[in-house]
Amino acid sequence: MRVGVFDSGLGGLTVLKALIGAFPQNSFVYLGDTARTPYGSKSPEVVARYSVECARFLLTKGIDFLVVACNTASSLAMAQIQAEVPCPVVGTIEPSIDEWVRMGSPEPLLILGTRATVQSQAYQRGIISRSPESRQLAVACPLFVPLVEEGILEGPIVDHAMALYLDAYRREHPTAVMLGCTHYPLLRTPIARFFGPQTRIIDSPGAICDRLKQESGFHCPPVITPCTREYYVTDDPTRFQTLAERFLGEPNVVVSRAELASLPSASESINQFKSNAT
Ligand code: DGL
Repeated sequence: MRVGVFDSGLGGLTVLKALIGAFPQNSFVYLGDTARTPYGSKSPEVVARYSVECARFLLTKGIDFLVVACNTASSLAMAQIQAEVPCPVVGTIEPSIDEWVRMGSPEPLLILGTRATVQSQAYQRGIISRSPESRQLAVACPLFVPLVEEGILEGPIVDHAMALYLDAYRREHPTAVMLGCTHYPLLRTPIARFFGPQTRIIDSPGAICDRLKQESGFHCPPVITPCTREYYVTDDPTRFQTLAERFLGEPNVVVSRAELASLPSASESINQFKSNAT
């Protein structure tokens, strides 16, 4: 099984790491759209267009299965991706909601995500379709992504950001918090501490792995030949390589540059710039 995984950038490595741990026999092709991240502040149309381009790129790498690791793309572009891609596709939303249901649908449920994810109402609609009466709250935490990108995972700045976004919601005593963004699992410890031990945390990497255990292609017996892993990004691979090696705990991660069809070439950009300037 050759599994494609894409995200708007680095954050999807949280999903990839969980997938590699759970399904070491599979090969993985990861695409981070680092040139166009973040998706969480962009319009639905733009997120859908970028996401379809990412999916198309991964198809050129011969994938049999696609994991949309980005919660924003999962919220805004699943229908468009599914229409485009001939292989099975899994996003982050259904698996997280399944996990919440397996927990007994604890409420109130607090959903955390990017602005685009929260505004899309994708999680909220999914919850209502499974449990119409349940009480749910949702809040965007836009500063969490840059904090994680900077490697700031604990300390006073994280505490301030949590207080800024979450103080009002802590007073609602959520019994479950859904981490609806690729980056938030890296803040799981401070978030869990902030809400206290009575609040259960649901994150996408764990939920996606649980969901994929039900897929036949993910049950292959371990093979002797090691699986392959390929990494592509749409911007300079150097920083991604350093962070991926650190995050995945693997030396010598080879990262290549992906050229997505819609990214203008350098000469097109220059010509465009010249015609705008005259
Ligand atoms: N990957 C995005 C998500 O999970 C977070 C980063 C971004 O805004 O692009 O929603």
